[in-house]
Amino acid sequence: MAAGRDKTLGDPAVVVITGAGGGIGAALANVYAAPGVTLGLIGRDEAKLNRVAGECRARGATAEIRVADVTTPEIEDVLRAFDAAHPIDLLIANAGVTSGVSAASGLEPWDAALRTAETNFVGALRTIAPVAERMAARGRGQIAGIGSLAALAPLPYSPAYSASKAGLETYVLALRHLLAPKGVRLNVVTLGYVETDMSRRLSGPKPFLTTPAKAAIMIRSGLKRNRARIAHPVVFAMGIRCLNILPEWLVRLILPAFAFTISP
Ligand SMILES: NC(=O)c1ccc[n+]([C@@H]2O[C@H](COP(=O)([O-])OP(=O)(O)OC[C@H]3O[C@@H](n4cnc5c(N)ncnc54)[C@H](OP(=O)(O)O)[C@@H]3O)[C@@H](O)[C@H]2O)c1
Repeated sequence: MAAGRDKTLGDPAVVVITGAGGGIGAALANVYAAPGVTLGLIGRDEAKLNRVAGECRARGATAEIRVADVTTPEIEDVLRAFDAAHPIDLLIANAGVTSGVSAASGLEPWDAALRTAETNFVGALRTIAPVAERMAARGRGQIAGIGSLAALAPLPYSPAYSASKAGLETYVLALRHLLAPKGVRLNVVTLGYVETDMSRRLSGPKPFLTTPAKAAIMIRSGLKRNRARIAHPVVFAMGIRCLNILPEWLVRLILPAFAFTISP
């Protein structure tokens, strides 16, 4: 899966990933791991980060771990310090949690909704903003926000998650315009269902389910081409976008076919 580093195509030499201890973050770490690459792996669980760091070192990369929670201001200091030691070429704001309608109540638990907003939106801002500022000052760098197809249309089964990812997407794309003249590239990745701990907590249909490894390869390819929105799978993304232009009565007929609940 790991490709050798190709300087002619501008492969990043320093890559930092939040939520790197498992799922898509761990797959991304493995995809970027190659000789000459330094990886900064960030998450809350030290044991999981060490395991992924070991995999990346086995691929010839240098891997450093940082234990930090993106919902706290500490993450900003961790990222600034890492960037001062190893100027970051690519930052992937991947850490995220999910929440949604519980099978028991038929509603979204308030504490879970709040945690989702704090992690996926505010946490992503705490991750992106300090690094964007430093990249702008040196005139280069790339930042990817890992969003979701749930951002493309309001999903009644995960209101806070949909909103948090819509907020992240808008923030990233706004910064893309702001920072392009300063040499900083920003991209948002809108993913469908990926087989990870997160999606395993979801009960319901998971159309176009893909693996973290395939998702990571697709993300790397889209980032290399600097696409504003990297959507996967494209057909599913187009279908979800259509919900925004259909009459509401029709949307209410279609949505139950995709209904899901999320266990705490
Ligand atoms: N799986 C899907 O179907 C899917 C679909 C669309 C988008 N996504 C997005 O893809 C990203 C990765 O999700 P995943 O599927 O790989 O889920 P996952 O396996 O549950 O991984 C999520 C990662 O986020 C980290 N994390 C959570 N809260 C954190 C916090 N407060 N501070 C630091 N790290 C935190 C976790 O690290 P620790 O274990 O160290 O806490 C974990 O490594 C998320 O942003 C998710 O919304 C996933």
